[in-house]
Amino acid sequence: MTLRERILEALMEAKGNFVSGEKLALRFGVSRAAVWKTVNALRKEAYEVEAVPKKGYRLASNDVLSPEGILSQLKTVFPFRPVCRRVVTSTNTVLKEMAAAGAEEGTVLLAEEQTAGRGRLGRSFYSPFGSGLYMSILLMPEQLPSKAARLTTMAACAAALAIEELTGRDVGIKWVNDLYMDGKKVCGILTEASMSLESGRLERAVVGIGVNLREPEGGFPPELRSIVGAVWGADCGETNLRNTLAALILDHFADYYLNQETDNCFLAYKQRSFLLGREINILHPDGSHSPATALSVDRNYRLVVRLADGREALLNSGEVSVRPQQPN
Ligand code: BTN
Repeated sequence: MTLRERILEALMEAKGNFVSGEKLALRFGVSRAAVWKTVNALRKEAYEVEAVPKKGYRLASNDVLSPEGILSQLKTVFPFRPVCRRVVTSTNTVLKEMAAAGAEEGTVLLAEEQTAGRGRLGRSFYSPFGSGLYMSILLMPEQLPSKAARLTTMAACAAALAIEELTGRDVGIKWVNDLYMDGKKVCGILTEASMSLESGRLERAVVGIGVNLREPEGGFPPELRSIVGAVWGADCGETNLRNTLAALILDHFADYYLNQETDNCFLAYKQRSFLLGREINILHPDGSHSPATALSVDRNYRLVVRLADGREALLNSGEVSVRPQQPN
């Protein structure tokens, strides 16, 4: 471990309490100046380290993203390599740049904040500082491009299971891959893949997962309030929450990814799909919509619907909404 990693670990172990510079220096056999220099380097990364004379140093937040905090909780054999940044435009965009510059499969980029977080269908994803988990995973799956959508489904199921384990509450999946709690969207997934023209196979895929963990200070912007919610209220004081959630999601995701032939994900997906049996509207790109009934999800994660004229149809992708109940 480097001095940086050791000092970070010691600050995290202290759970928000002060640790004196002298103690750190003695413990790691370095000078107090070296400790100070390392703390300053940490501050230039994502970490808010408070320094008070005669008391020492402490991590101002008890929920700081860190590669060490994630790696220490991971159980999978899949070689994930977390990288944490304070602020990026979009973890998907930056990870694609890192991939072009040679980043390896398993690189996971996490950020405390995104200034240009992106969602499906060209939408933006609201990503304020410290209130969500914004994470992208780089994969080189050598699969047919038609399987890219599966990666999104695996990520949705992995996130659903992880949130349920942490909260003890149910998570619903709204086709295609949005996660809901108590009627509000708490998580979305954006997978972006590129194909090799030579082999006709996927060259790389970036799976981006955004979870709204806490209500941001002042709440969500008015235009999002009726749609978007958070897994916890603003006051969730849990320590190391995001590292724990990231590790749980990555473990579940790796399990699905490494065992794709068994497709364990399907059952988990179907059990949580709350549209089945409900009256929906199929939303078209031109803004119009058609009424339908959601019947089922087939093995390719297509939504099986009955249209108003009684015919059955399969939806591959797109957007649907739950139709408000008509008063009797
Ligand atoms: C959606 O709900 O439409 C998908 C949202 C995906 C958001 C995540 S946050 C991490 C990654 N980086 C992005 O810019 N988007 C994804």
